[in-house]
Amino acid sequence: MKILFLSPEVAPFAKVGGLGDVGSALPRQLAALDHDVRVFLPLYPRVEEKLEEVESVLPQLDFRLGPRSIRCAILRSRLPDSSCDLYLIQCPELYAWPEIYDRPDEHLRFAAFSWASLLAAKALDFAPDIVHVNDWTTGLTPLILRAQFGEDPHLGRARSVLTIHNLGHQGTFEAGVLPETGLGGSPELFHGNELQQGRVSYLLTGLLYAHAITTVSPTYAKEIQTPEQGHRLDTVLRARSDVLVGILNGIDEEEWDPSRDPHLPTPYDADRLDHKEASKAALLAGSGLLHDPRIPVIGMCSRLVYQKGIDLCMEVLPGLLARHRFQLVVLGQGEPKYERFFKELQQRFRGRVEFDPGFSERKAHLVEAGADMFLMPSRYEPCGLNQMYSLRYGTLPIVHATGGLADTVWDYDDEVAPGGTGFRFVSFDSTGLAWAIERALKVWGSGHGADRERWRQIQRNGMKLPFGWRHRVGRYVELYEKLLRAA
Ligand code: ADP
Ligand code: GLC
Repeated sequence: MKILFLSPEVAPFAKVGGLGDVGSALPRQLAALDHDVRVFLPLYPRVEEKLEEVESVLPQLDFRLGPRSIRCAILRSRLPDSSCDLYLIQCPELYAWPEIYDRPDEHLRFAAFSWASLLAAKALDFAPDIVHVNDWTTGLTPLILRAQFGEDPHLGRARSVLTIHNLGHQGTFEAGVLPETGLGGSPELFHGNELQQGRVSYLLTGLLYAHAITTVSPTYAKEIQTPEQGHRLDTVLRARSDVLVGILNGIDEEEWDPSRDPHLPTPYDADRLDHKEASKAALLAGSGLLHDPRIPVIGMCSRLVYQKGIDLCMEVLPGLLARHRFQLVVLGQGEPKYERFFKELQQRFRGRVEFDPGFSERKAHLVEAGADMFLMPSRYEPCGLNQMYSLRYGTLPIVHATGGLADTVWDYDDEVAPGGTGFRFVSFDSTGLAWAIERALKVWGSGHGADRERWRQIQRNGMKLPFGWRHRVGRYVELYEKLLRAA
């Protein structure tokens, strides 16, 4: 199949969170199955810094978005370790900023992303069977495809797939931006109620027009159809439930593999779990904390935002640190109030807590390997990749049982389904979180002897699970094939 794939983040070139990982791993996996996949990404400065080989394939691509003329160029490179082509949209006026998101002309930057990708495919003589887009930033694409390219010899046959990675971000703008979407001549194609209320939403538009909608875990697919977790889009999602499916994300098994991870001092696997201690020592040394193998380390690596349940950490962690023996290493950046909290926690519990507000691939790997437990108390979590990395690294996840976390972590104490891999709490409140952490600390126990053996068993339960993309990609291929059969 010929697949045009649009993502605002593609690791290692541009990554803010898990979308960057998926935006890179899924197309590479599809290309490995011999599909012809072309990935499109805006050329942000951070991408330019990392590109090694790059060629110009379309020196000039001009189009209009209402009153605005857009001039861009298309460059081509490769995704690492893959035959998959990466196309970069060079338009300094729109994309040459240090940040990927939250610019004042966001509506224009991402409307242009959709238009430029489709126009470039056509100009480059690429006729995709599938146009697969991701999140609100690409949400206008299915409508543009239908309204503007319905009869086009290159694009007219293409079926569109929209993947929701996070319903919390919808790309909602004042209706006044409509002309600059390039679709201003057809306001009737936008959601009527929204327009009446003076808004346009890119994600909602995508949900209305995509031939298929996917999201990144089966549980999240159900949750977003409820008023509680539908972020005001549950009605539309229920109306489109016949084309909505949850496909669990995979992880990049090559990059996240403790037996050959170049970021770790000593490799390890399920049969050499003692070697994990070297990573713990390295993590703690790098964090300025003392290393005692008997004291458990809880790790976190996360965007520090509302979604991630940091409010609960604020309620619970100071008390737990006062009552129990454990250390905490946090890598993350985000909202100032959360960063301030962890900074203060570090000051208050010197030698036991380290907070690193940086963004570091290396340290992310070291936290996964060096911690004994990994904390992810997310309020909601479409999929979550970190808990799967943790499972692979023998680091027991402590999670709120929501979305993809509920689909990937089995509770140690579950009598119905024995063979647990971590610790879950169901009710999203401070009691729930404290209960889960205290259970984990209790199972850790003395950290040696019989306690250690029991811990090892839970680690092994998680380490043998198949989380790689090769176990997942087939679901996307089946979906694409189904769409093409129905076309
Ligand atoms: P989300 O996409 O909601 O942020 P995920 O768990 O799906 O959550 O993915 C987060 C990804 O971002 C992981 O690969 C994680 O390692 C990475 N990450 C988050 N914060 C940092 C950081 N400060 N430094 C390095 N990597 C980070
Ligand atoms: C989003 C979600 C996260 C998911 C990632 C990749 O950022 O918050 O749960 O794992 O996308 O799909």
